[in-house]
Amino acid sequence: MTKQRVLSGVQPTGNLHLGNYLGAIRNWVEIQQEYDNFFCVVDLHAITVPHDAKALADNTLTMAALYLACGIDLECSNIFVQSHVKAHSELTWLLNCITPLNWLERMIQFKEKALKQGENVSVGLLDYPVLMAADILLYDADKVPVGEDQKQHLELTRDIAIRINDKFGKKKEPVLKIPDPLIRKEGARVMSLTDGTKKMSKSDPSELGRINLLDPPDAIKKKIKKCKTDPVKGLAFDDSERPECNNLLTLYQLLSGKTKEEVATECQDMGWGKFKPLLTDTAIAALEPIQNKYQEIMDNRDYLDSVLRVGAAKADDVANATLARVKNALGFLPNL
Ligand code: AMP
Ligand code: TRP
Repeated sequence: MTKQRVLSGVQPTGNLHLGNYLGAIRNWVEIQQEYDNFFCVVDLHAITVPHDAKALADNTLTMAALYLACGIDLECSNIFVQSHVKAHSELTWLLNCITPLNWLERMIQFKEKALKQGENVSVGLLDYPVLMAADILLYDADKVPVGEDQKQHLELTRDIAIRINDKFGKKKEPVLKIPDPLIRKEGARVMSLTDGTKKMSKSDPSELGRINLLDPPDAIKKKIKKCKTDPVKGLAFDDSERPECNNLLTLYQLLSGKTKEEVATECQDMGWGKFKPLLTDTAIAALEPIQNKYQEIMDNRDYLDSVLRVGAAKADDVANATLARVKNALGFLPNL
């Protein structure tokens, strides 16, 4: 039996934080052996908000190296850069022309980001979910492992594929495969260290809200020391009055590899004074091997370049076949 296909991606904006790792990449690593995987660094998405041209290429390389450092295995996975595979841009145009404008206007992430951009909202920001749909549909992906915040974009991707199939496909021969999201409950929404009701985010102006995968031990220590807590004695999960407590216990659970029950028992009588150093040591120990591996990969630029070259070539083959199928269904004159 052939393996099902997985596709996912992260934007190369700044640094990868624990939300990205626990919500997305760690899950890619855990399931990768069961699937045929394509993981892209979505650099075309990164320019939908004003970006720094001097940093884009370096951030793209950093992200690819972090995929490897987190344990993406090239035996079953391909790593590539979105802009290296031209079919992503081309399929986006085709999908644009069949996607109703009001489907995009109601995207939560668009509304939130547009609010932050003020006067400076690009057409690209509105079109972001269509580009994401193209990323997924080009690879006939069965599963898309993401954090909770991407659920609405996945629903849109499915709606676009269904619309294309209805309009241009035959009953027994759909043009596009309908993908399913894969959202793990634990870690699906890692919250900010300074506010347990806000998600940990790359765009938070304060560094104190997030722990980055490449943060040195003293930065991790400082951030956990300053993180928001509450005055209640004893620590417990799932108390809606204690969002910070739930978030910090979940971080400890995921980073230590213990079960929720083990953590609940271990921490039930603890105060913050004892828990914070425990979480600090656990986070430092969990990130140390990733940081060491990252450094090794960055010191071997030829290797990283070759990974991305091979990845792009494999992605190109799959993506071009799908693009040709869509163009054919839409009635374009073939270029013979
Ligand atoms: P982004 O940083 O927007 O490129 O997101 C990359 C991946 O990380 C996506 O799968 C997101 O769903 C996931 N992600 C981002 N922030 C969080 C968070 N705070 N908690 C869990 N997952 C997240
Ligand atoms: N929009 C996603 C995010 O910000 C990133 C992304 C782009 C993506 N294309 C994708 C995720 C395709 C999964 C599949 O998190």
